[in-house]
Amino acid sequence: MKPPIRIAITGATGQIGYSLLYRIAAGDMLGHDQPIILQLHDITEAQHFFKGIVMELNDCAFPLLKQVITTDDLDIAFGDADIALLVGARPRGENMERKDLLAANGPIFVRQGKVLNSVAMKNIKILVVGNPANTNAWITLNNAPDLDPRNFSAMLRLDHNRALSQVAQKINASVSEIKKMIVWGNHSNTQFPDLSHAMIKDQKIVSLINDSNWVENNFIPTVQNRGAAIIEARQGKSSAASAANAIINHMQDWIFGTKENDWVSMGVVSTGCYDIPSGVIYSFPVTCINGQYKIVEGLEINPSNYQRMQKSYQELITEQTVIQ
Ligand code: NAD
Ligand code: LMR
Repeated sequence: MKPPIRIAITGATGQIGYSLLYRIAAGDMLGHDQPIILQLHDITEAQHFFKGIVMELNDCAFPLLKQVITTDDLDIAFGDADIALLVGARPRGENMERKDLLAANGPIFVRQGKVLNSVAMKNIKILVVGNPANTNAWITLNNAPDLDPRNFSAMLRLDHNRALSQVAQKINASVSEIKKMIVWGNHSNTQFPDLSHAMIKDQKIVSLINDSNWVENNFIPTVQNRGAAIIEARQGKSSAASAANAIINHMQDWIFGTKENDWVSMGVVSTGCYDIPSGVIYSFPVTCINGQYKIVEGLEINPSNYQRMQKSYQELITEQTVIQ
């Protein structure tokens, strides 16, 4: 039997939490032979919600679930954690942009960065989900000076999956046949879902579709604005099941590796490639092997796509100045 892996999850009583905990406990994220300990955090006022959540976890009789810790103390939640899924934060409502949450959510990540720095495992893998995810990841990283910046990531996988699904429907293919999708930039409506490198078998998807009007006026805005469309369709509630699924996909690929001849989109610290200055948390195409990601470099970018990538970078810089 492998030793258990400690997974800290913040905002664990929220709606993403309810779609996420049971899948992780079932083995969907780390595999069906990996025991786990769940270290669940939420604010003091939400602690009473843990009662039913833990009763249900028990009633699932998950063989891999060795222990469940519930707490409002970040030192306990992050203590010796191998993985931290930072979900806890306010979601936006209708007619809000994700960056409107910075004032409310930014301070959460200052504190969490400091606590992660002092009590988590030094090789911890951190995924920031709470919005605005890229800038919150940047705040967390900047408050954890003893951790490697490569341990931090922000979730763009939901956008990546949304892009795959839109294309699969358009060309009547399975999502698993579509390779080399990219979503660049910020998890906001300046993100750039880029179809120009995507392939199906040996064929470029843009050539197969051969409909630039669909790409420009349907595909790109649909993916960019999908979060808001879900909020409207769910009458004020933001995505939860698809967000939980994207968390699982993101962590699985980071830990176990991406598929051959393919890549995924992850918000990671820029190294300066593609003229995105270093330090910012920006979504790039990455491949993963042995628990390490590597940005896919050297892709050809045409001038108008370059402008879109820079626009999303500029928004991230503006977000950073708001909280300084
Ligand atoms: P929710 O309101 O259902 O749950 C949020 C949870 O966070 C609550 O349990 C709340 O008590 C907790 N919380 C509030 N303040 C906290 C703090 N200081 N420390 C720890 N926990 C705190 O929201 P949700 O639908 O689960 O969404 C959570 C976050 O994830 C939101 O910010 C949402 O916008 C974001 N989100 C991001 C993506 C993405 O793709 N990156 C996708 C979906 C949602
Ligand atoms: C999403 O993309 O669904 C989430 O970031 C929630 C939101 O505010 O759009």
